[in-house]
Amino acid sequence: MRILVTGGAGFVGFNLLCYLNDGYPHYRLVGLDNLKRLGSEQNVSALLKRGIEFLHGDVRNMHELQQAGTVDVVIHCASDASVLGGITSPAELIIQNNLMGSVNVFEYAAQQHARLIYFSTNRIYSCESLNALAYAERDSRLVLAKTQKLSGVSARGISEEFPVMLSKTFYGATKYCGEVLLQEYAAYKGLRYVINRFGVISGSGQFGMESQGVIAYWLRQHFEQKPLKYIGSGLDKWAGHAEVGMLGTPRATLVYIA
Ligand SMILES: NC(=O)c1ccc[n+]([C@@H]2O[C@H](COP(=O)([O-])OP(=O)(O)OC[C@H]3O[C@@H](n4cnc5c(N)ncnc54)[C@H](O)[C@@H]3O)[C@@H](O)[C@H]2O)c1
Repeated sequence: MRILVTGGAGFVGFNLLCYLNDGYPHYRLVGLDNLKRLGSEQNVSALLKRGIEFLHGDVRNMHELQQAGTVDVVIHCASDASVLGGITSPAELIIQNNLMGSVNVFEYAAQQHARLIYFSTNRIYSCESLNALAYAERDSRLVLAKTQKLSGVSARGISEEFPVMLSKTFYGATKYCGEVLLQEYAAYKGLRYVINRFGVISGSGQFGMESQGVIAYWLRQHFEQKPLKYIGSGLDKWAGHAEVGMLGTPRATLVYIA
């Protein structure tokens, strides 16, 4: 089995490659990344040390993607993952990168008759819908309440029925457009795919920024003795109520979760 991980030097792609390499040594793995994310270049040497193939390439360019050759599975992690993309920069850039880049990846996977895992995001939901969620307070955490106003949400979590309309940031919109197009690739080009919508994860090999990777960003800010800042959405009702302690620093008020 040969597996291509796009965004292979990024946080998720890098960790997936290491996990697959450790647990499934018979898989042939290749990571591809344009190393645009600051810090991602530091993950490349760790990949090479493990004997994982790495290609410097950009998914917006089909020729660079095709360097990967024959593959059985494509795990698509490459994207500009910033929620500020298109807001503080020209929208065209993030649309080209995330949407047109993804179209190339879908085309490539379809041509290869490969299966595809698409890393989408919880940002495909609008802040308005997320802010309408009802919570119940427990001793140490908030949990989703049993009774909710919107469809597709229960105490068990959010399902595929949860509304995806309304503004969601350019980032969320590009990722959602990718999800929509995947259905067409499945219907007309036979592409087999899985979509994973997740969010706010953290770990090693992550180079957090204010606009993405907030836990890693906070840790770095703490060690550099800089103030904790973050942006994002959700939990409006609890603004100013919850607090987060960071390794003995003064506690920071949690207003939003990015
Ligand atoms: N980390 C999270 O909390 C989170 C949450 C929700 C969704 N996601 C999604 O998961 C995927 C991986 O996220 P991550 O946290 O690893 O982000 P990341 O920024 O650490 O990794 C993405 C990698 O893609 C590369 N890249 C960007 N554009 C590229 C292009 N055109 N061609 C080739 N490489 C390109 C970057 O250099 C980077 O190394 C993304 O699609 C993101 O939207 C992440």
